[in-house]
Amino acid sequence: MAGTTVSIGVLGAGRIGRVHAANIAANPGARLAWVADPLIDTANAVAGRYGARATGDPAEVLADPDLDAVVVCTPTPTHVGYIIEAVRRGIAVLCEKPVDLDLATARSCREAVAGSTVPIMMGFNRRFDPSMREVREAVAAGAIGTLEHLTLISRDPAPASLAYLEQSGGIFKDQSIHDLDMARNFLPDIVEVTAHGSNLFDAGIAGIDDFDTVAITLRSVSGALVTITNARHCAAGHDQRLEAFGSAGLLEVGNDTGSLVRRSTADGTGTAPRSSRSSWNAMRRPTPWSWRHSWASSARARRRHPGSRMASPPWSWRRPRCSPCAGSAP
Ligand SMILES: NC(=O)c1ccc[n+]([C@@H]2O[C@H](COP(=O)([O-])OP(=O)(O)OC[C@H]3O[C@@H](n4cnc5c(N)ncnc54)[C@H](O)[C@@H]3O)[C@@H](O)[C@H]2O)c1
Repeated sequence: MAGTTVSIGVLGAGRIGRVHAANIAANPGARLAWVADPLIDTANAVAGRYGARATGDPAEVLADPDLDAVVVCTPTPTHVGYIIEAVRRGIAVLCEKPVDLDLATARSCREAVAGSTVPIMMGFNRRFDPSMREVREAVAAGAIGTLEHLTLISRDPAPASLAYLEQSGGIFKDQSIHDLDMARNFLPDIVEVTAHGSNLFDAGIAGIDDFDTVAITLRSVSGALVTITNARHCAAGHDQRLEAFGSAGLLEVGNDTGSLVRRSTADGTGTAPRSSRSSWNAMRRPTPWSWRHSWASSARARRRHPGSRMASPPWSWRRPRCSPCAGSAP
């Protein structure tokens, strides 16, 4: 590791790769060293924005002896190969979700890296959303007594392209996976799962044998329940809400309206004027926002514990003070 700056390469400069590249470049503890994408124009464009090197060949990035960490943002079927190769070379890995669409392949990846001390983290950014993290910590500290019911609502503003959705593994493995991760973050021992799906608004999604709207119920070993609501669209923007209900109270996280102003006029009462909602529609949270904080904590932890192995959540967390990310939507 060169000095105190973590040198990072991004593999894949598509939707989420661009979010990571922007957040790494904005982090004073990190340096975006490389951007790799077989679409070399894309690699050049993203690398050029932040003064990084571009290549069409990810192997060139992994061969850099000065690289500390790599962020794998390539299509899902390529993840396992890059994780294993990076770990073999001692390069820390943040890999986008999911590990793989096939459970046996994901398990073989876990076996391949078992015993390594190289830090590995999967891209479950919502745990790092400052508000959701705060609720998680409050629940753990007993602020609402015994957790009885966790409610997670997660709706995308609009569906991704059909080309993406076709190879995504379906809404459960592609979108609900974030909520399933959050559920297990609060209640690790899930013993029962019920799920329903519907096709309510997108014939294209129905045509690829996927759902556009789903509801999932989980039961933990303690009997506590989790309700997950997902949809591939939401007219109001990126909808990310959480409620933790316990024996001694409840904690809620609402959407980021971009303003704390509560306005009452003859038209009614609202938390923000409509114009402020554009920041919500720009998907400020949870992805770019929480990724920025994930990187802030990762850079600190990597410097403090260079030999540590990351599990989820891997690093000690401090409430961030930096301003919200203005990065583009993934
Ligand atoms: N955590 C999140 O919120 C989140 C959001 C979006 C996507 N994702 C995940 O990120 C991954 C990428 O999704 P995306 O939406 O950015 O896809 P994308 O198609 O927009 O981008 C993928 C990029 O990878 C490049 N690529 C293809 N093969 C490559 C290879 N072998 N090496 C390097 N680059 C290669 C493509 O040219 C493309 O530019 C997926 O696994 C997806 O599930 C996570």
